[in-house]
Amino acid sequence: MWSNFLQGPISLRSDPLSVIEVAPEVVLLHGFAAPTDALDAAVEVVSAAAPFRQLKTPGGRPMSAFMTSCGACGWYSDARGYRYEPADPSTGKPWPAIPAVFAALARAAADAAGFGVFEPDTCLINRYVPSAQMGAHRDADERDFSQPIVSVTLGTAATFLWYGLERRGSPLRIRLFPGDVLVWGGAARKGYHAVQKPEGGTRYNLTFRKAL
Ligand code: SIN
Ligand code: FE2
Repeated sequence: MWSNFLQGPISLRSDPLSVIEVAPEVVLLHGFAAPTDALDAAVEVVSAAAPFRQLKTPGGRPMSAFMTSCGACGWYSDARGYRYEPADPSTGKPWPAIPAVFAALARAAADAAGFGVFEPDTCLINRYVPSAQMGAHRDADERDFSQPIVSVTLGTAATFLWYGLERRGSPLRIRLFPGDVLVWGGAARKGYHAVQKPEGGTRYNLTFRKAL
């Protein structure tokens, strides 16, 4: 039996229908992070210390989502490539710590999805204005692929595309609403995925990873 991470056991969150394996080792925890108020507030706290910024791909193209990070390291991209940085390159200061409410959610979600103990060391926060999206890619800059990815939608809904281990064919389309958590790991850990433009308003995505 699993439970809502903020409010303890309640009937809605322990409904087994809320846990859906949408593809092998890709698990949707519908509404698991709802209500999202404490998470929304924590995004404000992190981004006050490490502001959202528009990173460029190694090829020089600006990414449409604005990003920031918290944790022991933060995902970063510029002409030197995709990587994890121990400090925020824009200030030289360490990234803000992962808020306790984030860490509790990430651990509870990985466990609820069947991936056991998860101790992320970084959380990437993406902010999507209505015109922003993310093309197909896989999360491959981490050292530890034995750990899952925990991905949380805040703000507004968007359609997430799951391609699987090859970036071709027609992807599975998963509509993610605020408070939905998607977890992938095991053989799916290096699966290709993308996200479409938010359905009006600003969408935030938290991606928890064990990078180091
Ligand atoms: C990502 O893959 O980095 C973001 C996915 C999302 O925004 O849902
Ligand atoms: Fe990703």
